[in-house]
Amino acid sequence: MKKLLAKVALVAICAATLGACNNAPKGYTLKNGTYHYNVPARPAGQHDMLAFAAEPIDTVRVGFIGLGMRGPGAVKRFTHIPGTKVVALCDLNPKGVAESQGYLAAAGQPAAEEYVGDPEAWKLLCQRDDIDLVYIATDWANHAPMGVYAMEQGKHVAIEVPAAMTMDEIWALINTSERTRKHCIQLENCVYDFFEITTLNMAQQGLFGEILHVEGAYIHNLDEYWSEYWNNWRLKYNAKARGDIYATHGIGPVCQVLDIHRGDRMKTLVAMDTKPANGPKIYKKHIGEECPTFAQGDHTMTMIRTEKGKTIHIQHDVLTPRPYSRMYQLTGTAGFANKYPVQGYCFHAEELPNDAAPELDNLNSHKFVPEDVKAALMEKYKHPIVKDIEEMAKKVGGHGGMDYIMDYRLVYCLRNGLPLDMDVYDLAEWCCLAELGALSIEHNSAPVEVPDFTRGGWNKIQGYRHAMK
Ligand SMILES: NC(=O)c1ccc[n+]([C@@H]2O[C@H](COP(=O)([O-])OP(=O)(O)OC[C@H]3O[C@@H](n4cnc5c(N)ncnc54)[C@H](O)[C@@H]3O)[C@@H](O)[C@H]2O)c1
Repeated sequence: MKKLLAKVALVAICAATLGACNNAPKGYTLKNGTYHYNVPARPAGQHDMLAFAAEPIDTVRVGFIGLGMRGPGAVKRFTHIPGTKVVALCDLNPKGVAESQGYLAAAGQPAAEEYVGDPEAWKLLCQRDDIDLVYIATDWANHAPMGVYAMEQGKHVAIEVPAAMTMDEIWALINTSERTRKHCIQLENCVYDFFEITTLNMAQQGLFGEILHVEGAYIHNLDEYWSEYWNNWRLKYNAKARGDIYATHGIGPVCQVLDIHRGDRMKTLVAMDTKPANGPKIYKKHIGEECPTFAQGDHTMTMIRTEKGKTIHIQHDVLTPRPYSRMYQLTGTAGFANKYPVQGYCFHAEELPNDAAPELDNLNSHKFVPEDVKAALMEKYKHPIVKDIEEMAKKVGGHGGMDYIMDYRLVYCLRNGLPLDMDVYDLAEWCCLAELGALSIEHNSAPVEVPDFTRGGWNKIQGYRHAMK
């Protein structure tokens, strides 16, 4: 008995010591060489949010929290979306609130109620009973706590990317959304960019055959932006975290193509990063202190295999002088699509339907199709959700129009009582690369099981589709 107690004590001491030394996330076990995160059981009486639709809302009344570089543009876009009312605006800094009031005035809309200066004032905004949707564009650390609180106050929430940074935050958002029956979506705009949404339609019509491999990336040298973020939050986050902490632009569009949690699911992930080379220098330049523990590698790669044997490769690099790339690439059994640095399509012509493109006979799979064929394909396969609003989207703008399409679709689905284009499980899957990737990296790129965030529902819906009235 004494021996047994001594052994238990030793194991406890080792676990505590390892825990203290290892800054990798907790709550996982190692089975057969793969790390598995603990999946919290769904509380009794709670149901999934798959294909969830709320009661239609005639006029979508919105409160905005976070009006820095990103937020005011969203307020401006909402002034161009029918059936909306901007009710309240909140930021610590009056500048973005004033800018947003200017957009309302320019559109001939009433001024919104202001919540300025107090770090807790956003709670008062969430408590109002004349708001349907809380739109959050603060720094990353505030996203999930604000989202949870807003849902607790009976509001739908739309949160900028990444909506959650840790597994605990992801599960808090999922559980709160399931319990309160409120939508919780991430404002991932890149799924609406014109090449991506057209290519998604082409993929859904079978032009690429079976999609086998996809790639996505966020490669953006942030040199000119670092000092613009409130309180240097973005650089400080990069200094403390490994793994892909900004994966959603890259992974969102490709997950829709692969029908993730609509017939397939991400199963195993491995990640690797370079050493932090530029990161500490950029930290010193902007924060004025040495950061010997700067965590984020200059370049991070994540690879994922799905239940149905497809592969996903995602990259993150905001620290080196590379040209901008939000890579979006599909490799199918019959075709290929690529967005950066060259945008184009490539096909086995004999597998295309006869009316798919002009000059089918001249197509071969050694090079991209000619520009006129690409243009004809993109016109023919323009996505139905884009057709009616393309002109307006390009006029209002926001990354060339995709931000407008995102906000428009959010409002359209809320007004018509339809399931939203993205749900809380998309949010979870696209954000989990941060903590799961860090776990893999800190264990010599070990495989990590991606939890089934739907808790058993990933195969209920067959195929990703946008809801239409
Ligand atoms: N989807 C996209 O293309 C895209 C583009 C840019 C930024 N973003 C995301 O938008 C978010 C905001 O980014 P940004 O560039 O505007 O950053 P920012 O630093 O310019 O703005 C953040 C704002 O949040 C406010 N804030 C912080 N704590 C607050 C509190 N307690 N109460 C009220 N306001 C508070 C700050 O005062 C600041 O104005 C980030 O999540 C970012 O990743 C997305």
